[in-house]
Order: sequence, then structure tokens, then C-alpha cells
Amino acid sequence: MDQEKDKYREILCIGAGYVGGPTMAAIADKCPGYNVTVADIDEKRIAAWNSDTLPIYEPGLDAIVKKTRGHNLFFTTDIPAAIKKCGIIFVSVNTPTKTFGDGAGKAADLQYWEKTARAIIEYADDDKIVVEKSTLPVRAAEAMSRILQSNTKGLNFEVLSNPEFMAEGSAVSDLENPDRVLVGAMQTRSGIEAQKKIVAIYANWVPKKKILSTNVWSSELSKLVANAMLAQRISSINSISAICEKTDADVNEVSKAVGMDNRIGPKFLKAGVGFGGSCFKKDILNLVYLCDHYGLDEVARYWEQVVLLNDYQNRRFVKNIILNMFNTVAGKKIALFGFAFKADTGDTRESPAIYIGKMLLEERAELNIFDPKALENAKKELKDTEGKIEYFEDPYECAENTHAIALLTDWKEFADYDYKRIFDSMAKPAFIFDGRNMLDHKKLFKIGFNVFPVGSEPMKHL
Ligand SMILES: NC(=O)c1ccc[n+]([C@@H]2O[C@H](COP(=O)([O-])OP(=O)(O)OC[C@H]3O[C@@H](n4cnc5c(N)ncnc54)[C@H](O)[C@@H]3O)[C@@H](O)[C@H]2O)c1
Repeated sequence: MDQEKDKYREILCIGAGYVGGPTMAAIADKCPGYNVTVADIDEKRIAAWNSDTLPIYEPGLDAIVKKTRGHNLFFTTDIPAAIKKCGIIFVSVNTPTKTFGDGAGKAADLQYWEKTARAIIEYADDDKIVVEKSTLPVRAAEAMSRILQSNTKGLNFEVLSNPEFMAEGSAVSDLENPDRVLVGAMQTRSGIEAQKKIVAIYANWVPKKKILSTNVWSSELSKLVANAMLAQRISSINSISAICEKTDADVNEVSKAVGMDNRIGPKFLKAGVGFGGSCFKKDILNLVYLCDHYGLDEVARYWEQVVLLNDYQNRRFVKNIILNMFNTVAGKKIALFGFAFKADTGDTRESPAIYIGKMLLEERAELNIFDPKALENAKKELKDTEGKIEYFEDPYECAENTHAIALLTDWKEFADYDYKRIFDSMAKPAFIFDGRNMLDHKKLFKIGFNVFPVGSEPMKHL
């Protein structure tokens, strides 16, 4: 009995990425009574988790990893041993959009998830609770259950859904103070027993009323819907920014006025270059695929439009640059301030900067790129892209001799730069396209810049 109890104090997470690493560090930190092992097939990533330079940047993450690593938090590539030892297995591998075959461009590619399930069958020699932490299409748990139950060892695997709602850039504080934790389980006796064990982990620091126990499909669907609704707010305000640019309205004023309605609220109502990140687009497309699968054409087209509008906003931003730089950027140098998909992360997956950068290169512009944390990832993203690209570790050097600055990421430090010094070093006339509406536009205009915000009137000397 004691051995049985101990087994459920050994937690394994398969997948040491942006979700697996921080999530498990937070559990180890808040639950000293549990041992937490994070395993991955990527040896380099695991070596980095075991070093002083963690593989991902998140404010506050270094401190909790340093505090727990080697005590009750361990990183390993020895997946078989970890599977044997642990009673609870979180699976946090990547679930990208399928790029081939049926559902290409929409459905989730579950090959990594399935490989993990097969590894669990191969190495487990007792019953396990398997928890989906990755974002998966609805009814994935059922499919996983079927794969796991196909084992010939007579073992029982209880599959639960515990989607992760943390946001990159604020992962540690989101994990420490989550709005809610969702634990979905099959409504069977063993499912509910397993659900209680997962709830007990979170109850170490999350108030009980914030831990929701649901059925497994509600849990899976809630994650897709939460991301779809967040992205939909961004596309909604970006669509309004296009109207504002054609009229005398200012999107910042509209957004403030609308957001003060407490039924609507102010968050995710900032116009800009569009959303990015590995999740929003992928999860909406997943929802669209699901709706198509069930013949819900109107619902599918409704959500698809959120992604199409986002692509339109990227294109509109580039068109605006070209139009205002005398209809050509060929041979002109443009500084990209920011390449990460948002501030406080080095993650560049699906970043608007990739699409905007590539469109500018197609127009034969030359790019100077600066980002405080995402330069290495930016190089990887643009590795095979034709055109002249230079990368800078200093924003002032990045802007030197350029014709324009396109601000693409909302890093706070961008607002604090000495723009007089930057202006003096640039080719004239100097342009600034503030894709995040975060700079002091009047001040920039006074310095001499031609200033182009998103969704409000430009300030031009020309
Ligand atoms: N990034 C986010 O902000 C976020 C937030 C909530 C949910 N999610 C979801 O969480 C999941 C993981 O996202 P991520 O951003 O951490 O991805 P990631 O790519 O950063 O990490 C996934 C890790 O899984 C590893 N992996 C793949 N196959 C494996 C296998 N068979 N065995 C062991 N390890 C394997 C990869 O090597 C990689 O290190 C996705 O489903 C994503 O949609 C992400």
C-alpha cells in the first residue's frame, strides 16, 4: 500500500519544452513532497536544463529551477527508467499543425503524442495515470486510451486532460497564480480516483475553487476555445484598426472606450501587427478542423476568419510601409525592432516578424534585425530565406543608416531608447512604423521621424 502511495508521489513529464519545463519546475517548487522528473529525447535541451543557461527565457524561471533542481526536480533523457519509476506521467510533447496528408494545414499532428504513448506501453510495468498537458483535439484522450489499453501486459492506464493555460513571457507568475486549473477525467470510478490525485497536486498551492474537475472532453475543448476567444479579440480590434485608418477615429481611443465596459473588459484589445506564437493559430485551425469534421460549416468558417484576418493584418502592415516609403523598399534598409512573437520571451514560433520580414525581403528590402532575447531563434527562422539580413545585439547599431524602423515586438525597453540618437544615425527621411502602438508618437514626430502607428492617423513631415 505504501509502495502504491509512493508511486503517485513520483511525477514524470515527457517533453521538456516551453510548457513541460516551467510547469514541472512550478510543481516541484510548490510540492516538496513530490519528486518531479522531466524527460525529453532532445539531448541538447536536457543538457541546457541541467546547465546555468536554461533552454528558454522566462522571467523568474532561473530562480525556481536553481532552487529545486537536484532536490526534487530532475531532467533526464532516460525515458524508460523514468516511465518505470513514476505513477503519474504528464505528456507535454509538441502537437504542431499537420503538414501532410488528410487534414494538412488544420488538424493536429499527433505523431509525437502517439510515440510517447507507445513508449509508455513498452516500458511501464505497473498501472499509470497519464495526463495530457499538450493541447490536443477533442476526443484525443479517448484515442490515447485505446492505444494504451492495447498493451498486452494487463496494465491499466487512466488518461486525463489537464491543459496548460500559462502564457509565455509570464509563465512563472501564471503558474504560481493560475486563473483556474482544469482537470478532465473519464467519469468512471477509476477515472474519478485518478482525477482526485491530480487535483491533490495542484491543491498544494491553488485555491480549491479555482480547480475545476470536468469530463475529459470539456477539458480538451475548453483549451481550444480559450485560445480561439483570445485570438478572436485581437483579430476583432485589428479589424477595427483598418476602419480607423480610413476615418478619423483612433483605435486606442476606441479600444479604451469599449474595454471600459465591464462586460467586455480591457485585455487583449490592443491593435497591432497581429498575434503569433505556437498556439493561437494552431489551436484555432484545430477547432476549424473539428467543426468541418462534424459538418458544422458556418461554425468552421466563423473561426477560420480569425486566422484570415490576422494574415490580412500582417499584409496590411507591410503594404503601409511600402506605400508610405514612396511605393518601393527595394534596396532600402529597414530595422526590425523585435523578432519574438511577444515581449519577455525568446520564442519566435509563428511570430508576425517572420511573415513581415519575409514580405519585406520579397520586396527587396534589406533587413537589420535586433531583439533582446530572440536573435538566435530569428536566425533559425530566416535561415533559408533569400535576401540581405544582418543581426545586431545593439539597437543603436541596428538602426544606423536604415531608412525605417518597424517595431514588431512589445518589449518594454523599446519605449526607453534615445530616439534622437537613433534618428541622427538614420538615412533621411526617417520612418518609424510602430506595430505595437507603444512609442511616444508626438515626441518622435518632433524629433523629425515620420510616424506610422496602427489604427490612427500618421504624423508626417512629407
Ligand atoms: N508554448 C505555450 O505557450 C503553450 C501553452 C499552453 C499549451 N501548450 C501546448 O503544450 C504542448 C507543448 O508545447 P511546447 O511549447 O512546450 O512545445 P516544445 O516544442 O517547446 O516542447 C516539446 C518537447 O517535446 C519533446 N518531444 C517530442 N517528442 C517526444 C518524445 N516522443 N519523447 C520525449 N520528448 C519528446 C521535444 O523534443 C520538445 O523538447 C503543445 O501541445 C502546445 O500546444 C503550449
